[in-house]
Amino acid sequence: MSRLVVVSNRVADPRKTAAGGLAVALAEVLNNTGGLWFGWSGRIVEDGGQPSLHTQHAGPVTLVTADLGQSDHAAYYVGYSNGVLWPVFHYRLDLADFDDGYIAGYRRVNQQFARQLAPLLREDDIIWVHDYHLIPLAAELRALGCTQRIGFFLHIPLPPPLILAAIPGHDWLIRALFAYDVVGFQAEADLLHFDNYVAAEAHAQPVGEHRWRAFNRTVQAGAYPIGIDVDEFQGLAQAHEGREMFERMRREYSRRKLLVGVDRLDYSKGLPQRLKAFRALLTRYPETHRSATLIQIASPSREDVSAYTDILHELESLCGSINGNFGELDWMPVRYMHRTVARPRLPGLYRASRVALVTPLRDGMNLVAKEFIAAQDPADPGVLVLSRFAGAAEQLKEALMVNPYDVEGTANAIHLALQMPVEERRVRHESLMATIRQYDVHWWCNAFLDTLAQAESAESGTPWL
Ligand code: ADP
Ligand code: F6P
Repeated sequence: MSRLVVVSNRVADPRKTAAGGLAVALAEVLNNTGGLWFGWSGRIVEDGGQPSLHTQHAGPVTLVTADLGQSDHAAYYVGYSNGVLWPVFHYRLDLADFDDGYIAGYRRVNQQFARQLAPLLREDDIIWVHDYHLIPLAAELRALGCTQRIGFFLHIPLPPPLILAAIPGHDWLIRALFAYDVVGFQAEADLLHFDNYVAAEAHAQPVGEHRWRAFNRTVQAGAYPIGIDVDEFQGLAQAHEGREMFERMRREYSRRKLLVGVDRLDYSKGLPQRLKAFRALLTRYPETHRSATLIQIASPSREDVSAYTDILHELESLCGSINGNFGELDWMPVRYMHRTVARPRLPGLYRASRVALVTPLRDGMNLVAKEFIAAQDPADPGVLVLSRFAGAAEQLKEALMVNPYDVEGTANAIHLALQMPVEERRVRHESLMATIRQYDVHWWCNAFLDTLAQAESAESGTPWL
């Protein structure tokens, strides 16, 4: 059987808590399949040194990670990946920093990773590259003579062609995708944007369903919505820490209904809009005073990118003013924590909550929505309030759908969720549960890898870029 080689910028020890959908999902997958996981070590070293490789064994997974030089990290991770691709792919042209210097660093790191990875590869490996940091990786591997099958999965949204086209060098990026055999997206909307882009901008020829020929290569595209390991998550809910957390929260909030938000602190997550909607709820529906508490957990993320520090300050000031204006001696409306919660405690927190607020302005998928559903008690389940702009909205139709930019509309939906009778909650939850079970993380992995296994072996030696 072929070995699975996963490549992603962020690599996490599968035995530890990670915040971020990619790390959480890949840890689940690799724990099952075993294999090699290659990526950044998280260490930044001085420029000019030879970046070292670190090898670590974590159960069936071998983790091989590489250091990054200071200026490479600044240009590749902070600059091009998170200052250009992340905002533009999340439709935020206003936050993009199109500095000319970044792309060279982005390319240098992809070349460095390709050079470090190539000698570790076996002839029959299946290589699966993840996310926007590594779009040109296959092209760099092909330039080194790699003929293995290589797939790519984009965890974040792909915007429509006219937004994508704002990136200087967008044609180079999309051309680089043709070095892969299979390119996967989270949602049908992203797939449609890809099809539209390659037809109009790259003059690619359709040679099958979502199958395109251009630049002497054929690429198969598809939508593979990522899921969670439902059994594993429910197991966590029943384990000691999960139950203890649930019981503690139930005791502490016995007289109130809990609302919960769990996110990386990212501007794409719509956190200020969520807080404003909660404030509108308290203003419009006085009966929620003392009876509703919002717990918002936001883990630190990308603090070296300025847009992230801006959002941190905005959030702190909103939480402070809501508590200042509405709080009572015995009731704080918002409990905000800027930290990562240990994964075993999450299901208990979700299960003790009547409502989850998953209200991103744009999101590739959003696994928190699926984790919340999995953790509920089917006899008395909570309600998911979900942004129509999360990839998950294509699948989770029975959630209460909101437009997060519409603060009043979101406040009304939260009110509806708080009031929803148990019969309706059960019916909605049952359908949502069936969906997340059918399209779980194993379905995602198998569907993608089956397509990749069927792809014809790659042609090699072409100067891709
Ligand atoms: P993203 O990949 O953009 O961070 P997702 O919702 O898809 O968004 O995935 C986030 C993952 O990270 C989920 O598994 C979630 O449980 C976890 N996570 C997010 N924020 C926290 C936090 N503050 N503490 C613990 N885990 C978190
Ligand atoms: O899932 C989207 C994603 O950008 C992943 O690629 C990434 O690992 C995660 O969010 C967390 O971000 P970062 O790796 O920058 O900490």
